[in-house]
Amino acid sequence: MIEVHVGDITRLHVDVIVNAANQHLAGGGGVDGAIHRAAGPRLLEACREIGGCPVGEVRATPAFSIPVKRIYHTVGPVWRGGNLGEPELLASCYRQCLALARRENMRSIAFPAISCGVYDYPPELAVEIAVEEVQAHFDRDTQPQTVIFCCFDEAMAELYRQQLDAYVRR
Ligand code: APR
Repeated sequence: MIEVHVGDITRLHVDVIVNAANQHLAGGGGVDGAIHRAAGPRLLEACREIGGCPVGEVRATPAFSIPVKRIYHTVGPVWRGGNLGEPELLASCYRQCLALARRENMRSIAFPAISCGVYDYPPELAVEIAVEEVQAHFDRDTQPQTVIFCCFDEAMAELYRQQLDAYVRR
């Protein structure tokens, strides 16, 4: 099942929330800042112990004060025009998070719009990749069974809805 939700990802009742982190796992603004604020200072300690995460990969931590099971920190690409591997790296973020959720037996996972804020990825293009990767997951697997695209605003949610409709019509 795929759902589109508008709101703060730290308030969702799911097994996993995904963080749009940076390579140093050092915390930051945007969704990263919101997640660190809600989880509390132990999250930064856990991230420091991990040490970092390459672009397109994922690292998992406990969620501390956020009432979910896990936080998956993935690092999206910075948009530099689209010819530097950005689409493949963004797709890899979604793929690796879904594969890890499957290995960890997580039933539900919520994604923010990775790279669509500070990292400047054009939302229309990012949403296309996000939807494609999640649909490909459901072609192969049943677990995690619920994927939520969590958007901070209605305009972004509308892009996901349009893309999901387009996919169903193909
Ligand atoms: N819940 C859900 N979505 C949110 C939230 C929230 N609480 N806060 C922001 N967003 C949305 C933004 O509106 C945007 O659409 O998340 C999307 C991703 O934006 P960013 O958080 O800026 O992430 P990204 O573009 O991947 O940039 C990552 O930003 O804060 C730093 O440490 C982070 O360096 C890293 C960079």
